[in-house]
Amino acid sequence: MAKQVTNGDNNSAAKAPPPPSPLRFSKFFQPNMRILVTGGAGFIGSHLVDRLMENEKNEVIVADNYFTGSKDNSKKWIGHPRFELIRHDVTEPLLVEVDQIYHLACPASPIFYKYNPVKTIKTNVIGTLNMLGLAKRVGARILLTSTSEVYGDPLVHPQDESYWGNVNPIGVRSCYDEGKRVAETLMFDYHRQHGIEIRVARIFNTYGPRMNIDDGRVVSNFIAQAVRGEPLTVQAPGTQTRSFCYVSDMVDGLIRLMEGENTGPINLGNPGEFTMIELAETVKELINPNVEISKVENTPDDPRQRKPDITKAKKLLGWEPKIKLRDGLPLMEEDFRSRLGKPTN
Ligand SMILES: NC(=O)c1ccc[n+]([C@@H]2O[C@H](COP(=O)([O-])OP(=O)(O)OC[C@H]3O[C@@H](n4cnc5c(N)ncnc54)[C@H](O)[C@@H]3O)[C@@H](O)[C@H]2O)c1
Repeated sequence: MAKQVTNGDNNSAAKAPPPPSPLRFSKFFQPNMRILVTGGAGFIGSHLVDRLMENEKNEVIVADNYFTGSKDNSKKWIGHPRFELIRHDVTEPLLVEVDQIYHLACPASPIFYKYNPVKTIKTNVIGTLNMLGLAKRVGARILLTSTSEVYGDPLVHPQDESYWGNVNPIGVRSCYDEGKRVAETLMFDYHRQHGIEIRVARIFNTYGPRMNIDDGRVVSNFIAQAVRGEPLTVQAPGTQTRSFCYVSDMVDGLIRLMEGENTGPINLGNPGEFTMIELAETVKELINPNVEISKVENTPDDPRQRKPDITKAKKLLGWEPKIKLRDGLPLMEEDFRSRLGKPTN
């Protein structure tokens, strides 16, 4: 029986979780931890898979429809006896015998999630329902990667987990932020009603190698522009702020949350706050001092400020980011240069 879990505020339900599937006790059972990573061919998912595969007791199954992810991100594990890659869309049910589910499947960049908003909200709602159904059936613990977007355009700053958010329910971003809010609701309803062991991470902007090039996310945009020698395009007014967490720190936080005894929601992000102009200037200085910085029009509903309060993650997970922005940005350069065919001279 699993230990009692809390959400860090001592108001979580304590219903017993369902038992593992009987298949786990068949004579073919291997004493490994079987872990499903949905969206494991994407940016954060593939780094998470790399870290999970380092542990020889883990068997990792990736389920991904390759909408924004790529087989390339998993290629070093293809053929490995502890690794499996399944082309699968989470809006369809999936039956696999697993002990843990990291549920990441969902396009994260505005360009991709706005490309097919109906599909995005289906992925968030039906996809999360399917994964919770799987968790219930096999008695697995499930972690959802929610987002700082659930805070919308926040009226409190910085945002801690008790803030309920200021979200436009009918805007062009709503398929993503309202979708994630429903996904969180489903997680907590399955936890209260069925005793499912849940973990909810609210991820703030994360960056690192393998981000999609030209995906509209500000760090990947600036790095790609700097590598190509194009102007860095800052959306007006440029004073809006974001915080940026390096992907290895994020993966560490996700694994601590999964292995810990708190349901969350827990903010994971780097509290260092930068304006878009500051970010552009830093990329210019570190990657290509010859490029210009230019202003372009902003998109609707772009939040003015975003900065995580990570007090809860520090206290409950013993976690805080270690990599500073100035150290993390250069770690992306080589990956972007090789994918853009622009090697260092
Ligand atoms: N990167 C960030 O800054 C950030 C911030 C907040 C939250 N998140 C969350 O973290 C998770 C991973 O984000 P990422 O940055 O790695 O994005 P990503 O787009 O690189 O990865 C998402 C993966 O999910 C897959 N996917 C999308 N829809 C699917 C579906 N219907 N069925 C199966 N697979 C599907 C994609 O092909 C891709 O491999 C997402 O849930 C995202 O909402 C990310």
